[in-house]
Amino acid sequence: MDIRGTTKVCGIIGNPIKHSMSPIIHNYLAKVKGLDLVYVPFETTNAVAAVAGAYELNVLGMNVTVPHKNAVIPQLKEIDSLAANIGAVNTLVRVDGGFKGYNTDILGLKRQLELENVPLKDMDVVIVGAGGAARAVAFLCASEKVKSLTILNRTVSKAEEIANNIKQVFEGFNVSAYTINDYSVLENEKKYVVIQTTNVGLHPNNLEAPIYDKTFYDRVLYGVDIIYNPSKTKFMQLVNESGGQSFGGIKMLLYQGVLAFELWTGTSVSEEEANEVLQLLKKELNIDE
Ligand code: ATR
Repeated sequence: MDIRGTTKVCGIIGNPIKHSMSPIIHNYLAKVKGLDLVYVPFETTNAVAAVAGAYELNVLGMNVTVPHKNAVIPQLKEIDSLAANIGAVNTLVRVDGGFKGYNTDILGLKRQLELENVPLKDMDVVIVGAGGAARAVAFLCASEKVKSLTILNRTVSKAEEIANNIKQVFEGFNVSAYTINDYSVLENEKKYVVIQTTNVGLHPNNLEAPIYDKTFYDRVLYGVDIIYNPSKTKFMQLVNESGGQSFGGIKMLLYQGVLAFELWTGTSVSEEEANEVLQLLKKELNIDE
């Protein structure tokens, strides 16, 4: 592309940053939309200085990745309420006097579920895991008004902490926490939406799953794994073998980018354009099918 005096700059701050897929997503979208915009990686260990510097340099928008997703929050002019509850921000949108923070990681999952027709509202939902990703998914479940939420984690205290945090914000919300081996608390006659957020089954440990027992998978209506490599995890395979529908994590990655791009540019990315980006991502990540 031609970079001119008018070219808008977006980018991503993080450390490390070399393996980020975001430049591929955003430079492709800028090209197909015919926008005078470039997206670049900024490797930095100093999130505070980076946010101030980006504003000063008239940067239009930024993504934020590891390890800065929490550290940028005090530097923001405004913050989206879901991102504030989660306590993590991955997208900064330029506003008057600073940046507004969003968490498009979780909004990306929300869009994926809507497009794949996986309901959350009034559903019984299970989250496997209680790390940073699980916390974000748990707040999404509360804001989408699921009927019940069960958090299962190897370290039960972390599941309890998320449950308690949510109850402080969403009073009366039906959330419970158990150790992962206690999945038999799930009711036999119910069907659940299960969201797998641990890193068990991540490449190269493709044959591992957080739970193997078929009686657990028999209760799964929809199984969503946020892992995108491999494209079909062992968890997804076990969901399918018990008759449930399974979904992988690549579209969450796709839509977190699409949503950020839409926020920065005020444009709307069509499903056709999103699908072109998806193919690029799969190629880059060596994901077939
Ligand atoms: P992220 O930010 O991606 O959520 P994280 O905060 O490191 O990553 O969380 C990793 C999650 O995977 C945790 O729920 C972790 O369980 P613990 O809280 O008990 O550590 C879970 N996890 C990692 N390895 C696991 C394993 N072998 N079996 C079960 N759960 C595991």
